[in-house]
Amino acid sequence: MAGGKRLRPILVIATYEIFGKNINKCIPYAVAIEMVHNFSLIHDDLPGIDNDDFRHGKPTNHKKFNEATAILAGDGLLNQAYIVISEDLIKSESEELKNKLKVFNEFSTAVDRMIAGEYLDTELEGQQISHQMLQYIHENKTGELLKLSIRMGAILADASENDIERLSKFADKIGLAFQIKDDILSEEGNPDITGKPVGNDKEHNKCTYVSVFGIEGAKKELEKITNEAVEILEYYGDKAEFLKQLAIYIKDRNK
Ligand code: IPE
Ligand code: IPE
Ligand code: MG
Ligand code: MG
Repeated sequence: MAGGKRLRPILVIATYEIFGKNINKCIPYAVAIEMVHNFSLIHDDLPGIDNDDFRHGKPTNHKKFNEATAILAGDGLLNQAYIVISEDLIKSESEELKNKLKVFNEFSTAVDRMIAGEYLDTELEGQQISHQMLQYIHENKTGELLKLSIRMGAILADASENDIERLSKFADKIGLAFQIKDDILSEEGNPDITGKPVGNDKEHNKCTYVSVFGIEGAKKELEKITNEAVEILEYYGDKAEFLKQLAIYIKDRNK
């Protein structure tokens, strides 16, 4: 109920719908990833990480309550995500289990990479880093959960290996695009619309696409990557129209 865009669960469902019919099958996984995402946001805002006071237009968890509550709320959301998934595993028909266990493994691995990305993001604050390292941080801290959303949708709908790989390439592009746009919004967004502070990346000497390439450079890269993402979807024609609109939304969003 935090007030976010719920992009990750939407991606799970939208990808599932390209290949499968009964979207109820992917709902527990869509819910679980949103829980992990909100764990990552609550901890990301803590004084020891980004030290931010506002999110979704409201005081951040540690500001509204206190640090202990925010740490434990994050821990709780992370753990509950696995409870939701394990409850679905217990209820599953045996022929579905192979895909679901694959998803469970990918879920755990992607969360681990997101945490590693957050670690690098804080550890390299204030340092001059290469373009490769910047991309690596973004791919992990943000891209991994977005790619997981898409892969979970495809795997749960029993898509072919070729389809899963093709959509993973699309996911890599929109994952990077999403964080480049986040960097741009941190530089020149409207805090009344984003609901979070503007200028905070600069203030904390964060390594971002804006700090490395400048605002125009970041926008050019965002445009290029989004076009590449949309091209990958052409293979699916009208079936992927919603995913295509989401990719364009990621580039054009103002929150
Ligand atoms: C913000 O993600 C954190 C990043 C990974 C960049 P979102 O912008 O998707 O967060 P909400 O849930 O919509 O607020
Ligand atoms: C957040 O990245 C990434 C995770 C929470 C995993 P940022 O720190 O750049 O995102 P915002 O701008 O605070 O939402
Ligand atoms: Mg951060
Ligand atoms: Mg942050």
